[in-house]
Amino acid sequence: MAGRIPQSFIDELLNRVDIVEVIESRLPLKKAGREFQACCPFHNEKTPSFTVSPGKQFYHCFGCGAHGSAVSFLIDYENLSFPEAIEELARAVGMEVPRETGAASATDNRRLDHFSLLEKTDQFYRSQLRQHRQAARAVDYLKERGLSGEIAQTFGLGYAPPGWDNLLKLLPGHAEREIAVELGLLIKKDDGSLYDRFRERIMFPIRDRRGRCIGFGGRVLGDEKPKYMNSPESPVFHKGQELYGLFEARKAGQKLERLLVVEGYMDVVALAQFGITETVATLGTATTQEHLERLYRTVNEVVFCFDGDAAGQRAAWRALENALQVMRDGREARFLFLPDGEDPDTLVRDIGAEAFRQKTVESIPLSQFLYEQLSLQVDINSVEGRHRLVEQAKPLLAKLPDSVFRDLMLERLAQISGLKTAQLQARIFASAHSSAPAGEPAAESRRPSERSPVRTAIRLLLEQPALGQCLQTPVELTDLQLPGVPLLLELLELTRSRPQLNTGGILEHWRGRAEERHLARLAVTKLDISSEGYEPEFRGAVQRLIEQRNSQKAEYLLQKERRTGLSESEKDELKQLVTGTRPHQDADT
Ligand code: UTP
Ligand code: MN
Repeated sequence: MAGRIPQSFIDELLNRVDIVEVIESRLPLKKAGREFQACCPFHNEKTPSFTVSPGKQFYHCFGCGAHGSAVSFLIDYENLSFPEAIEELARAVGMEVPRETGAASATDNRRLDHFSLLEKTDQFYRSQLRQHRQAARAVDYLKERGLSGEIAQTFGLGYAPPGWDNLLKLLPGHAEREIAVELGLLIKKDDGSLYDRFRERIMFPIRDRRGRCIGFGGRVLGDEKPKYMNSPESPVFHKGQELYGLFEARKAGQKLERLLVVEGYMDVVALAQFGITETVATLGTATTQEHLERLYRTVNEVVFCFDGDAAGQRAAWRALENALQVMRDGREARFLFLPDGEDPDTLVRDIGAEAFRQKTVESIPLSQFLYEQLSLQVDINSVEGRHRLVEQAKPLLAKLPDSVFRDLMLERLAQISGLKTAQLQARIFASAHSSAPAGEPAAESRRPSERSPVRTAIRLLLEQPALGQCLQTPVELTDLQLPGVPLLLELLELTRSRPQLNTGGILEHWRGRAEERHLARLAVTKLDISSEGYEPEFRGAVQRLIEQRNSQKAEYLLQKERRTGLSESEKDELKQLVTGTRPHQDADT
């Protein structure tokens, strides 16, 4: 997929575009010092924590963590694809997007084709619910389930009639059929013949944030199996990210304050019919990290609704584990367990909207659910039990971002375990970041500049990419065994070959890779050095890394000497390391 638009063009484009203009034309920005601020468009807030830096050509929200370049802003804000965002920016500055091969624009067109084919299919299924000669069966089924015509309309429910070739006949063209196969709407047999995936089912169109149909869920009218059939993953449909009903929830309401996450399509539709429109469902999958990020980019409060049975408890626990890392201050997660044999659809019809709402209000906070579950597994009255509880809580609390919420969770653990908060703090958070023995408050005892030279070097390069020019790429570093070093080397390489890149442009090079988020987060950490200090600090950090590498290497050679002896060149190297370039200060490891 990559490389269709040359990277050099993207670099050049990000040099010409001004992120402030891009964002300002969509969202009012206020100047605040050297930066600009606004209320974050990706989550609800009353005081602005969304910050745009003209210097770095980069935005960041301190509330929800959204971040990126002008390109990512357009992708997230306007829901554009990557090439669409590039096109849009290029248009704004009057540049023409070059293509490395003819394939690129073909891909874009295919994407458009995917959407228009889905739209056509969606219209078809809807029309069948009104027109097909057996539509009455489907309509009766929906009535029997208690759905109003109005809510069916809101969610665009449709009907895939019985038969193997209804959609097939609607799509006579070869190209169209191929796309329908890619989308999983048609299935191709080994002999090349095609047939409709969805037959005799109630159709639930699944929409993206912009309201475009990206896939379907289809339910049988009776008890046949499988009860639901869903579109498979496709170029435009990713189950691990999409939430059924999010578009409708946003459309229904005033500002969304919270979201209720349920399991089924029917639950979403039924609750909406009862006026509980702030409901979404995952698509027959567990709640993923991506889901959670999307949820909390939209609201600060999420209530997860699960069956009361063991499977429901397990699913809730998994949601909890994924939610921990996004639990920044101001965000809230709660859990609602339903009575046995009920789901939100049946329950709301039973007890009515008001009582259902009340249940969501009384749902269990994440903190309570977490400690209740852990306490259930141990004997809280024994020392051993409390010890086990702490051990089990450790990896969970370690996932929480640094926050008041985390402090409160620690305090609660202190109460339960009888340990001191400070002790727990040291045990849980210090060991992850330093080699100091667990239990010692290692974190505060080091000055920031001593903390990690890798981090310092990366941080400074992000602040001032031109620093990459001030050094030869230190080849020694390639064999330094330390987390973050490969990233630093790659960053050095990049800033050396493209000195004019800004922070936003750098991040674009990591698009779609795990380190991107790490880099973005680092880019907004506070630097307690003035700009004249950048270069010496940067050189110092790299120097310390070289020293670390040298002592690592010397250590290795000394050990090898003892075990197997050294070759001539290794002996020379060791001698040099020990006499010549041996670090004069102790490397800080
Ligand atoms: P449920 O079986 O709880 O669905 O599955 P439901 O919405 O209550 O169904 P009704 O009330 O009988 O119509 C929850 C979700 O799991 C997925 C679907 O996304 C469904 O909405 N699922 C379920 C499937 O993908 N396939 C299945 O066969 C069943
Ligand atoms: Mn149900």
